[in-house]
Amino acid sequence: MGRIRILPDQVANQIAAGEVVDRPASVVKELLENALDAGASRIRVEVEAGGRRLIRIADDGCGMNRDDALLAFERHATSKLRTADDLLSIATLGFRGEALPSIASVARVTLETATGDDAAGTRIEIAGGKILHVDDAALPRGTTLAVADLFFNTPARRKFLRAESTELAHVTALVTHYALIHPEKHFELVSATHTIVSAPPVSRTAERIYQIFGKETLAQLLPVGAELRLTQGGLPEPPPWKKDPTEPARDPGALRITGFYSKPELQKLNRNSIYIFVNKRLIRDRLLMHAITEAYRNVIPPTSFPVVLLFLELPPEEVDVNVHPAKTEVRFRQSSQVHDFVRDSLRTALIKARPAAGFLAALDSAPAASPSLMPPAASPLPGSPDAQAPESDPADPCDAEPFALTPREPLPMPGKLAFGSEGFHAGGWEGEDRRAWGEAAAALFQPAELPSAGDCSCSPAAEASGSNPAAETAMVEAEQAAANLNQLGSLRPLGQLRESFILATGADGLWIIDQHVAHERVLFEKILRDRQVEQVMRQRLLMPMLVELKPAQMVVFATIAEELERNGFEVEPFGPQTLAVKAAPVGLEGAALERMLGEVIEQSSADSAEPEHNQDLTSLRTRIAASIACHSAIKVNTPLDPVRMEWLLLELGKTSHPTSCPHGRPIALLYSWKEIQRAFHRI
Ligand SMILES: Nc1ncnc2c1ncn2[C@@H]1O[C@H](COP(=O)(O)OP(=O)(O)OP(=O)(O)O)[C@@H](O)[C@H]1O
Ligand SMILES: [Mg+2]
Repeated sequence: MGRIRILPDQVANQIAAGEVVDRPASVVKELLENALDAGASRIRVEVEAGGRRLIRIADDGCGMNRDDALLAFERHATSKLRTADDLLSIATLGFRGEALPSIASVARVTLETATGDDAAGTRIEIAGGKILHVDDAALPRGTTLAVADLFFNTPARRKFLRAESTELAHVTALVTHYALIHPEKHFELVSATHTIVSAPPVSRTAERIYQIFGKETLAQLLPVGAELRLTQGGLPEPPPWKKDPTEPARDPGALRITGFYSKPELQKLNRNSIYIFVNKRLIRDRLLMHAITEAYRNVIPPTSFPVVLLFLELPPEEVDVNVHPAKTEVRFRQSSQVHDFVRDSLRTALIKARPAAGFLAALDSAPAASPSLMPPAASPLPGSPDAQAPESDPADPCDAEPFALTPREPLPMPGKLAFGSEGFHAGGWEGEDRRAWGEAAAALFQPAELPSAGDCSCSPAAEASGSNPAAETAMVEAEQAAANLNQLGSLRPLGQLRESFILATGADGLWIIDQHVAHERVLFEKILRDRQVEQVMRQRLLMPMLVELKPAQMVVFATIAEELERNGFEVEPFGPQTLAVKAAPVGLEGAALERMLGEVIEQSSADSAEPEHNQDLTSLRTRIAASIACHSAIKVNTPLDPVRMEWLLLELGKTSHPTSCPHGRPIALLYSWKEIQRAFHRI
């Protein structure tokens, strides 16, 4: 007798479950996707014990009749795909026909479903893949799936589950993601003790961000939108003899991105706050991650990450979603075009918006990057073993677990809000929007006492409006989102603060500019430009400068010598461990020159330990430019006359990123006219 046997369905399902379901969050993902594919407009997720004991998802989608409900638990049973050709252009989130049988094979599942037009709904109970009961039931239209005791029959897998709080954090991340991509739908996530996400339908993503993350996060985000028409399709054309000559040429369609990106002052420890959706599907993708990191290159430090919600839409034929069992990865058919489009759109948006950092925001955002985004109510209990767990190693961010979010300090839950119909506009807040925003913010906070203006009040406006300070703050922040650095060149310098910061006035208010980092940014961009066209200006030193190096540093120096030369250096060996610097870039001399060289060699030797980066010429160039700029820029404690201050502001205004220095520190802070008026109780 032969040794090969066909596995029983139950075993095959459990094997498939190993790929599709590894924790409560992956069950939630599959069931949420099913509900969305069923056209639900309201989805409620309940979890107990982080989803280990119970996950119940109720939707008001199309439901199933009795036959379909039974079929749904068979392997490869799907309503979403018919032929192999359909695989080339999948428009639904599911298509494999594997999720329900996989889940049912490792848990106790109860399905309740009704289409609304049949006489009765259906109730099915399954445990470990075995159907226990099938009954008629009076049910409203829609589907409810309860998944209890996940992995009850596979103890080995149950052992891999983490603490309840961690599992709950993952579930929350999932629900949050899907709520963000569908602001028009009603999402709820509740645990046994409290409501974690409550997001009634709103008309815009900005309002959804506000519902879920609160006003601070929204105030630090800017909208992006761009479209690129494709010139050709990504699928190969059929050969001429198979082509129908009467068929009109197909329009290859367009790439479109919308979404939000963070101002440079908002920095995260890892890439868990970068959410990427492709055709409304949440995915992780190294290519797009890279494009986003590239867009922020030299705007935030290489060890920090932005917050980005990226919604990419493209024709379904342009993206292969059938590359990963859990459908969390995709393959683009024209990948370099997609990568460059995302990088360039984001970078252009950053350059155009040039968001000015407000005083308060700059004070709040610690210089070090903060943990990733999370709905406030989802924090695990402080002190729980996993409280710090889901953060991944920032040193190797590519390996970050995609959906792991780090909890943060609990904040007040935004709760249910009603917004005006218009909401957020790309350019800022106007009329109705601002009112809606104010009302929403007012609803969010406990009514706070107005600061008493006393008898000497000279601001009738403040009394008449009876305004809520929290709402006002929200509005100020929203206004700041609109203020940008385009007017830097037209500011009027008033003088210096401690010979280190330039004070200047403009239409928007009072500005403080850090003279060192401002000059650093100007020089940095100039050096990169000059280097690009091989036009770096060098100056001969009167006397060659001798620099002592250790043997290992000599080796590193040899690898970067050519690039240094192209940046204006003329350096020759002068004995086995000594270099003679004969010329250097203009503006760099003496001790600063020596420090700069030491710094670049140091950074390059750290880098050479990581083989991937070793050959990266762009990052070497950037590093050299940043280092030259830093060491030749005007220092703090340096008096500047008005002409030099004006020159510096003008030059800073011309740079593409006047927002932050190459190391990510803010350059200019705006104390807005509104803030000033408010501080003096004039409005
Ligand atoms: N909430 C729901 N409402 C209506 N129909 C549903 C729902 N959930 C599942 N179904 C039906 O059951 C079928 C099987 O679901 P299942 O999730 O196993 O497979 P799928 O969604 O087709 O593909 P995938 O395995 O990729 O998720 C679906 O094709 C759909 O017709
Ligand atoms: Mg499915």
